[in-house]
Amino acid sequence: MDQRTKVLLLLVFIKFFLIAAETDQNDAAALRALGSSWENTPSNWVGFDPCGGWVGIECINSRVTSITLTNMNLTGQLSGDIGSLSELQTLDLSSNKLMTGPLPQAIGNLKNLSSLCLTGCGFSGPIPNGIGSLQQLLYLALTSNRFSGPIPNSIGNLSNLYYLDLTDNQLSGSIPVSSGTIPGLDMLLQTRHFHLGKNQLSGTIPPQLFSSNMNAIHVLFDNNNLSGIIPSSLGLVQTLEVVRLDRNSLNGSVPSNISNLANLHELALSNNSLTGPMPNLTGMNLLNYLDMGNNSFDISEVPPWLSSLQSLTTLMMEHTQLEGPIPANLFSLPNLQIVELSNNHLNGTLNIGTTYSNLLQSIDLQNNSITNFDPITGGNNITILLEGNPTCENTDQKTESYCNSSQSSSPNLMSRNNCLQVSCSSDQVASPKCKCAYPYKGTLFFRALSSLDLGNSSYYVAVEESLMQTFQSYDLPVDSVSLSNPTIDSFGYLGLSLQVFPSGDDRFNKTGITMIGYVLNNLSFRPPRLFGPYFLIASIYDYYAGNSEFDRSNKKVSSGIIIGAAVGGSILLLLLVLAGVYAYHQKKRAKRATEQNNPFANWDVNMGSGGVPQLKGARRFSYEELKKYTNNFSEANGIGSGGYGKVYRGTLSTGKMIAIKRAQRDSMQGGHEFKTEIELLSRVHHKNLVILEGFCFEQAEQMLVYEHVPNGTVMDSLSGKSRIRLDWMGRLNVAIGTARGLVYLHEHANPPIIHRDIKSSNILLDESLNAKVADFGLSKPKVDSERNYVTTQVKGTLGYMDPEYYMTQQLTEKSDVYSFGVLLLELITARRPIERGKHIVKEVRDAMDKTQKLYNLHEILDPPIGSGTTLKGLEKFVDLAMRCVEELGAKRPTMGEVVKEIENIMQLSGLNSNAESASTSETFEEASKGHSHHPYSNDGFDYSGSFPAPR
Ligand SMILES: *[C@@H]1O[C@H](CO)[C@@H](O)[C@H](O)[C@H]1NC(C)=O
Ligand SMILES: *[C@@H]1O[C@H](CO)[C@@H](O)[C@H](O)[C@H]1NC(C)=O
Ligand SMILES: *[C@@H]1O[C@H](CO)[C@@H](O)[C@H](O)[C@H]1NC(C)=O
Ligand SMILES: *[C@@H]1O[C@H](CO)[C@@H](O)[C@H](O)[C@H]1NC(C)=O
Ligand SMILES: *[C@@H]1O[C@H](CO)[C@@H](O)[C@H](O)[C@H]1NC(C)=O
Repeated sequence: MDQRTKVLLLLVFIKFFLIAAETDQNDAAALRALGSSWENTPSNWVGFDPCGGWVGIECINSRVTSITLTNMNLTGQLSGDIGSLSELQTLDLSSNKLMTGPLPQAIGNLKNLSSLCLTGCGFSGPIPNGIGSLQQLLYLALTSNRFSGPIPNSIGNLSNLYYLDLTDNQLSGSIPVSSGTIPGLDMLLQTRHFHLGKNQLSGTIPPQLFSSNMNAIHVLFDNNNLSGIIPSSLGLVQTLEVVRLDRNSLNGSVPSNISNLANLHELALSNNSLTGPMPNLTGMNLLNYLDMGNNSFDISEVPPWLSSLQSLTTLMMEHTQLEGPIPANLFSLPNLQIVELSNNHLNGTLNIGTTYSNLLQSIDLQNNSITNFDPITGGNNITILLEGNPTCENTDQKTESYCNSSQSSSPNLMSRNNCLQVSCSSDQVASPKCKCAYPYKGTLFFRALSSLDLGNSSYYVAVEESLMQTFQSYDLPVDSVSLSNPTIDSFGYLGLSLQVFPSGDDRFNKTGITMIGYVLNNLSFRPPRLFGPYFLIASIYDYYAGNSEFDRSNKKVSSGIIIGAAVGGSILLLLLVLAGVYAYHQKKRAKRATEQNNPFANWDVNMGSGGVPQLKGARRFSYEELKKYTNNFSEANGIGSGGYGKVYRGTLSTGKMIAIKRAQRDSMQGGHEFKTEIELLSRVHHKNLVILEGFCFEQAEQMLVYEHVPNGTVMDSLSGKSRIRLDWMGRLNVAIGTARGLVYLHEHANPPIIHRDIKSSNILLDESLNAKVADFGLSKPKVDSERNYVTTQVKGTLGYMDPEYYMTQQLTEKSDVYSFGVLLLELITARRPIERGKHIVKEVRDAMDKTQKLYNLHEILDPPIGSGTTLKGLEKFVDLAMRCVEELGAKRPTMGEVVKEIENIMQLSGLNSNAESASTSETFEEASKGHSHHPYSNDGFDYSGSFPAPR
C-alpha cells in the first residue's frame, strides 16, 4: 500500500464517521454496554452508531426508541444499562431462552416504554417493583419465564396498561389489591387482559379486585393454587368475555350473578372443589364454551336451562355427580359440537332425538348408568362413547364401536401434507408450496377456546391465511405458513405447531427472524374468531443467511483497523477515534442549528438505505431533481390538479415513472405536519395502495412523490375520458381492490388510517387494471386509542360524504365505508354521485325493485357493464352498496365484511380474483357458521396504533 492510498483510505474512514455517527452518545454507550454483556448479538452491532442500521434498533431523532431482538439465541443477562435508554418505547427480547437472571430495577427508568415483551426467555427472580413506574406501558408480557415471588403491587400504578400477561411463570403469593396508599391490580381499570394462568398464586381471589368500573375482557387465572370462593364481584364486570378459573382449589358455590355477564363467551371453572347448586345461566346468549367438570356441585339432574344456551358449542361437565336422564333437547342446540359428560350417574335411555345439531361431533358418556341406546340413523358421523355403561353389558352391543373406547382417539390430528413426493435434505422442510427451506418454527399456545373441533382443518387454514396477511402487511419475506399437530395439554391450552417459510432464499436473515418474532409477540397478529389470545414459544433458528449481508458498517470498521495496523500502530487509531468524535460533535451542533427551521434536518439524505426506520423506502428528493424529472414542471407533464395544487408525471434517471403532487402555496402544511404525513404514508404498504416513493421539502416547496400508475383513474374510465373500459368482472375487481386497500388502512396500518376521500377520481388503475387507492391528502390517523372516532373539521367531497360524519363531525372508518358504497353505485351506473341535482343513492333506491330481475335497474345501469346472465351477482352487489350507504354508521358493514361479501359475489360470478383467499374464507365461514366472532378479535381497541411501527 503506498502512502497516497493510505491517506485516501484514512480520509474515507474519517468520512465514514462523519456520515454515520447519528446516535445520541449516551444511548450508543448504553447499547454497547448491553451488547457487550450478551452473546450472539447481530454481527453488525459494532462501532458507535446504533441508529445507523444495527439490526433490531430503531431511532427517532438520534434517540433509540426500539429494541427488537427476538429469537436470536441471545445469551446473557439484561443489565441495568437498559435504564439509560430514556426514549425507549419498545423492548422485545422474546424467544431468547438463554437470556437469564433477574430483570433490573432500572427498567423502571424507561418512562416512555409502551411495550415490554419478554415472552419465552429465561428470566428469573422477582418482578422488580420498578416496573410500576412505566407510566406509558400498554403492553406487558412476561409470559413463559421463570419469574418467582409475588406479583408486585406497583403494577397497579400502570394506569394505561392494556394487556397484562404473566402466564407460565412461578409467581406465588396472592393477587395484590390496593390498600391505603399501596396500589394493586384492582386499580387497572383500563386493562382488558388479565392473564395470570399457570403460576403458583395462592390465597383467595380478593373480592375487591373486581368492580363495575373495570373494562376487562379476559380474566385468566387458571392453573394456580387459588382457594376460597369465587367472589360475587366478578359478576359486576360486564365487559368480560372469557373467564378461566379452572385448575385451582376454589370452593364454595358459584355466585349466581355470574349469569349477568351477558358478553361471556367462555366460562371454565373445572377442576376445582366447587359445591352447591350450579347457577342458572339462562340469558348468557353468547356463551360458546362451558367447562364445569370435576367439581362437587350439589346437583341432581342435567340443568334444564342448558338447553337455552343457543350459542353453546362445547359443554364439559364430567365428574360432576349428575344424575337422571339426559334431556334430548340438549342436542338440538344449533351450534353444539362437543358434549363431555363422562363419569357421572346419568341413567335411562340415551336419546339424541331427531333434531340434533348438524355440527355435533362427539358425545362422551363413558362411565355412567345409561341402560339403553338406540343408535341413530344418519348420525354416524358423531362419535359416541358409552363404555362403562350398563347398556354395553348387553352382548349385542358389546362389540359396537360406541362401547369400545379405542374409538376415543383424542382429536384427529389433521394431516395436510401435499408434498409427499418432495424430499428435502435432513434439516430442511418442505413448505406448503413444496419448496425445501429452513422455516421459523415454534408453538402457538391458545388459552381460550371457543370450540374443540380440532379435526377441522379449515380453522387452521383460516389462521394461516390471516398470519400470511399479517406478515405481508409488514413486508416480511414470508412465502407460506403452516400449522399442524393440534394438541391440548394438561393445562387446557391448545398448542399448534407453527412453521413460517421464507420467500426467495431458503432461509431468513436476522432481520427477518426478529421481525417475525415481533409480529407474533406484540399483538400485531390477531387470530380469527374461535382462537383466542396466544403466546408463542419459538425454537432457536440457526440457519441464518450469510452473516455478511448486514455487515456493511462492520466491514468499514475492519478496513479501518487494517489501515491502522498497516501504518503501524495505535497512534493513528487514536487519531482516528478523536477525529470521529470531533466530527460527531461538529455534526451534532450543526444539526441542532438546522433542526430549528427544518424538521427534516436529521433525516439522512438517502433514505432508501433503510437507515431511517420510520421511513420505509421513502426517499428525499431535491427540488432540482424533481424539476429535471418533470422537464421544469412543464404543462405537458401535468396529469391532474385539485384544490391542493397540481400533479405532474416525471421520469427518474433509471427510467422509472413517478407522479409528483406539488402543493400550492396556500395549501401548504406546516413543516412538522408535512413530516408527520410523510411518516404516516411511508408506513403504508399494500398492493392496493399507491406507494409513496419520496418527498421534497425545500425552497418553499412541498411535494409528494408517488409511484406512477399508468391507466388513469376509475372516474376517467367510467366517464369514457380514458381508453380503459371495464366490464362487470373488471369493475368487481376494482371494488375488491379498493376494499382491500381500505381494510389495510383501517385494520393493518399503524396507526390505523381513515382515508376520508374515497371517490372514483382517487382510485387508480395499474397495468393489470387492479385498483390502487391514492391521495391520502385528507387522511387521518387514529392515534387516540381511547376513542374510536376522530373529531375533526368536516372535509371530503360532496356526494361521497358520510351524512352522519357531516352532522356529528365524528370521523370513523364507517365514513370511508359510506364513500365506498357511493363508489360501488358509481361502478355500476357510471353516473357521478350528484347528477342533475339528484344523489345517486336516492336514484338507485327509488329505481330499485327487489322483486324484479337485476332489481329492475336496467335503466340506470351503465351499458358497457354487460347485461342479463353475464351480470351474475349484481343484486348482491347492489345490496352491499345499499348497506354501505346506510344513514347510520353502525348499520354499515366494516370493510373487512365488505371484502368477504365481494369475494362471495366474485365466486358467484365465476371469477376468483384471489382464488385462495376467496375460497378459504368461504370454507371457514362454512365451518364456523353459527359462531359469534371470537372475543379476542372484537376487543375494540386499536392497540397496534399505540406502538411504534417496526421496520
Ligand atoms: C446458542 O448460544 C449458546 C451460547 O452462546 C451456544 O452455546 C449454543 O450452541 C447456541 N445454540 C444454537 C442453536 O445456536
Ligand atoms: C332459569 O332462569 C330463567 C330466567 O331467569 C327462568 O325462566 C328459568 O325458570 C330458570 N330455570 C331454573 C331451572 O331455575
Ligand atoms: C335415574 O336416576 C334417578 C336419580 O338417581 C332415579 O330417581 C331414577 O329412578 C333413575 N331412573 C332409572 C330409569 O333408573
Ligand atoms: C357425514 O359425513 C359425510 C361426509 O363425510 C357428509 O356427507 C354427511 O353430510 C355427514 N352427515 C351428517 C349427518 O353430518
Ligand atoms: C434481510 O432480508 C430482507 C428481506 O429478504 C432484506 O430486505 C434485508 O435487506 C435483509 N437484511 C439485511 C440487513 O440485509
